[in-house]
Amino acid sequence: MSETDNLIIALSKGRIYKETLPLLKHAGIEPVDDPDTSRKLILDTNRDDVKLLILRATDVPTYVQYGAADLGVAGKDVLMEHGGEGLYEPLDLKIARCKLMTAGRVGKEEPSGRRLRVATKFVNSTRRFYADRGEQVEIIKLYGSMELAPLVGLADRIVDVVDTGNTLKANGLEPKEHIADISSRLIVNKAAMKMKHNRVKALIDQIADAVAKSQ
Ligand code: ATP
Ligand code: PRP
Repeated sequence: MSETDNLIIALSKGRIYKETLPLLKHAGIEPVDDPDTSRKLILDTNRDDVKLLILRATDVPTYVQYGAADLGVAGKDVLMEHGGEGLYEPLDLKIARCKLMTAGRVGKEEPSGRRLRVATKFVNSTRRFYADRGEQVEIIKLYGSMELAPLVGLADRIVDVVDTGNTLKANGLEPKEHIADISSRLIVNKAAMKMKHNRVKALIDQIADAVAKSQ
């Protein structure tokens, strides 16, 4: 890894890509391809030395941890779950804001005589949340559409991100407990921070300036 190698930035395709674009533009980086129309997973940019990787949101910290990407943008929900090894987290980008919450059926009491069953893709954060409260719960790992679980009796609660609350409401659920405020963070591979310091530092500063101006 050296100062002359490409600078690789990992992003997920959805709201993080859309909300990161203006910040990258402020730093002089603009993609040449559009991930909505192209099937390419490595996008060229206007800068020969900068490439964008388009990944699943949960894979972004892994690519950055192992140095397959130098930098990335990931939600705090994903970072809390990943654990953050091998990463610096120098900047809160203040985009893709939401809350990590528990939720359950409107008006439904907690079950008596057995442990609460909680369905989520955020297994580690959920375990920590209930352990901190001294509550023993049964956690059921799901990969999506968590809102369905309480409706069909799979779980008493879910843990998921909530923004407007519309998804919960549309499914007869209500938010219960707040676990964490979530926004997306710029993350940096520890070796890249040293070996590509000049460009990484310049990029962090330019993005920090864009974030400050956007507030
Ligand atoms: P995947 O590849 O897993 O489908 P994605 O492309 O949907 O991911 P993004 O939309 O780019 O991923 O980003 C997901 C992140 O956005 C989450 O980790 C969370 O931090 C944040 N997020 C999720 N839902 C919301 C929401 N309703 N409002 C605001 N931010 C959200
Ligand atoms: C997220 C999350 C909730 C919803 C919450 O889903 O998983 O379902 O947003 O937002 P709300 O409170 O504003 O309704 P997303 O829109 O990312 O869909 P996906 O998980 O199916 O990609």
